[in-house]
Amino acid sequence: MKFTTKHAEISQLSTDCLVIGVHEGKRLSTMAEALDSAAGGFIHAILKDGDIKGKPGDTLLLRQVPGLTCQRLLLVGCGDEKEIEPNIFSRILAATGAALDKAGIKRASNTLATLPVKGRDLDWKVTELVRNGEHQAYRFSRFKKERNPAALREQTVYCADKSDLDTIKEAIRIGQAIATGQALARDLGNLPGNVCTPSYLADEAKRIEKRYDTVKVKVLDKKAITEQKMGALLSVARGSKEEPRLITLQYHGGNKGDKPQVLVGKGVTFDSGGISLKPSAAMDEMKYDMCGAASVLGTITAIAEMGLPINVVGVIPSTENMPGDCATKPGDVVASMSGQSIEILNTDAEGRLILCDALTYAAQFKPARVIDIATLTGACVIALGKHASGLLGNDDALVDDLLEAGKLSGDRAWALPLWTEYDEQLKSNFADIPNISGGRDAGTITAACFLSRFTKDYHWAHLDIAGTAWLDGAEKGATGRPVPLLVQYLRSRC
Ligand code: BES
Ligand code: MN
Ligand code: ZN
Repeated sequence: MKFTTKHAEISQLSTDCLVIGVHEGKRLSTMAEALDSAAGGFIHAILKDGDIKGKPGDTLLLRQVPGLTCQRLLLVGCGDEKEIEPNIFSRILAATGAALDKAGIKRASNTLATLPVKGRDLDWKVTELVRNGEHQAYRFSRFKKERNPAALREQTVYCADKSDLDTIKEAIRIGQAIATGQALARDLGNLPGNVCTPSYLADEAKRIEKRYDTVKVKVLDKKAITEQKMGALLSVARGSKEEPRLITLQYHGGNKGDKPQVLVGKGVTFDSGGISLKPSAAMDEMKYDMCGAASVLGTITAIAEMGLPINVVGVIPSTENMPGDCATKPGDVVASMSGQSIEILNTDAEGRLILCDALTYAAQFKPARVIDIATLTGACVIALGKHASGLLGNDDALVDDLLEAGKLSGDRAWALPLWTEYDEQLKSNFADIPNISGGRDAGTITAACFLSRFTKDYHWAHLDIAGTAWLDGAEKGATGRPVPLLVQYLRSRC
């Protein structure tokens, strides 16, 4: 979608549709008030008659309002608060997008960034307006004859104060960069497992390398992975014809000596469970088991698009997890790259196996901090549902920074404890560490405890995105989370 900005007298705007906010209790927003005097009290009369209540997300589309030059006017409910809560603001934007789309409007002028939002500045509001708008317009119709693209093609962000024009332009640029990265993450997530294989992810990384001079990519194939002694990653790949890949992307935006932020993303392109086979219900959703990897590719795309002045490394271990005559069996013991032996008690706990080798590999980049992102445990969906990503780590400052980035981006995370009492649940009679703990208790935490055995040498945090990476049911599809969180975090490092 195209986004522009314009400063003009509000009642003189000529557009297919002008979007303005109204509040509960028959109160107009500042913009609506200004417009209403040109419209001779028309909007007030509509509120008075109760055609729109003004609850957050209410919308009412009007045509040919007297005194106005715009063809249509979309009234959007903004609730009764003087200052709108940030998450409510995002909801209002989503309702706006849905109403514009339903009406088939191609071009709109949007004044919603002039609304007061609690603790947020204009820059934030415009970035969110753009990101949210692009998110709404996203379609995944690669395999459909009928494409059904979004009607809305262009939005003008209304600028109330001329001196804000540059701020708005820059916020549009940032919002679009985040949206581009998030859309890439959604596309990759939505691709079926027969298309999006480990080598497909490697090719995608190379496409990113081609697009940006600041990005360098290195791909290790099965032979090179073997040379690196990544026995845990290889043990997961054994059951599959598709070969594994270890993909590294280096983004150079900072100074040469600046220590990088390292992002490690789980890239299981299909998780059948392996010999510990999953039940068949909803097994198709295990094509989403590479959404951690997708979020790394999306985040690096977004920051390269922005030209963020820092260094970032992405590491993606990628494989399928399949049963087969060569597949790893429960009880097998394998040697991880770190030198620790692992007893594989359940082949469905494969994410931690591929991540532990990638986390060991990550140390060579002398990272400032390491964050891994993974659809790691069903238990995380039980604990937090689809609203927050699980967050654990060995460094409180890092965890706090990620929580804050989640709040600011609206792509929220919630912290869980990583206490030694949980770590003590990981005991094997036959190897240094088992890949699962005895029981089902605290599954998200014990999975993170497993990872923590491989991250002793640096500041590390883990995002479990099993609940947040995709939606199911009628809305089934990748969300592109946690790209907004990660980009916000990286921006806070500059
Ligand atoms: N990819 C799954 C986690 C998952 C399951 C994410 C369902 C989203 C929805 C992961 O590889 C897995 O299978 N984890 C097991 C771990 C168990 C065997 C300890 C799980 O959560 O059941
Ligand atoms: Mn699994
Ligand atoms: Zn998995």
